[in-house]
Amino acid sequence: MTTPRLDFDHVTVRYLDQKTQKRIEAVRDVSFRIEDKPTLGEMVVFLGPSGCGKSTILKAIAGLLPIDEGRIEVTGAPVGPPGKDRGMVFQAYTSFAWLTVRENVEYGLRLAGVAPAERRARSLEMLKAVDLVDSADAYPKALSGGMKQRVAIARTLLNNPKVLLMDEPFGALDPNTRWGMQGLVLDMLRRSDNTVLFVTHDVSEAVYLADTIYVLSSRPAQIVHRIDVPFFADRSFGVKSTPQFREVEDHLLGLLHQSPHVQGNIRVGV
Ligand SMILES: Nc1ncnc2c1ncn2[C@@H]1O[C@H](COP(=O)(O)OP(=O)(O)O)[C@@H](O)[C@H]1O
Ligand SMILES: [Mg+2]
Repeated sequence: MTTPRLDFDHVTVRYLDQKTQKRIEAVRDVSFRIEDKPTLGEMVVFLGPSGCGKSTILKAIAGLLPIDEGRIEVTGAPVGPPGKDRGMVFQAYTSFAWLTVRENVEYGLRLAGVAPAERRARSLEMLKAVDLVDSADAYPKALSGGMKQRVAIARTLLNNPKVLLMDEPFGALDPNTRWGMQGLVLDMLRRSDNTVLFVTHDVSEAVYLADTIYVLSSRPAQIVHRIDVPFFADRSFGVKSTPQFREVEDHLLGLLHQSPHVQGNIRVGV
């Protein structure tokens, strides 16, 4: 058996509540594994009510949080502090205020020692993809929330991390832009064997993007369902209006309705 891309093994995470000094369990004994499929990009989506522990799972993988129990390994090595093998797009992104859009997007390439001409060419391609060429020389404070989020997405995609952690990355975008960004991530997956872990509370987005969906319970997060979405290898926008797509959506909604613990703010739409 090959080493999995990600092994998340019996992980429990607790926070210390500053007010009460009590431990709050955010993630309880969660295990999942993502195999390393050569030449195949893959998307794993986490769907769960607000406050259940989704961001905690991604932050633990990013190395931003210590775990209390269990083990997290990326391609066979325990995760350490944030590294370039893992990229993360947060819910509310803050770009470097003192760098222009282009400099923000090129940041990782600069750290990696990529020569200026190549940096420029690659960032331009990415700025085109996220429709920010006209704002390349602007500073983040001049941008709308959705534009800032696209800077974050562009910058992270350009680093081409093997494991990409996306925490409700499209929540602040209008539907059109959101569809464009979904397409961009799917394109990246077609061209690479990267793995994306994606958090959303939108059922349609989950079904459209996922190869595998994990439905989480309310806090402490536990995996209550795993759904494989097998027939979307060739995902195109039109798939959303097919009966098969609706079937998976309905199946997922049925599961959510049977599980009162997971309802919360999960929604259908977009
Ligand atoms: N730094 C923290 N200190 C104490 N509690 C926290 C902290 N961060 C998150 N929590 C709590 O842990 C739970 C899970 O948080 P989070 O993973 O952000 O949820 P989600 O992303 O699913 O909305 C929430 O109830 C939240 O209030
Ligand atoms: Mg969150």
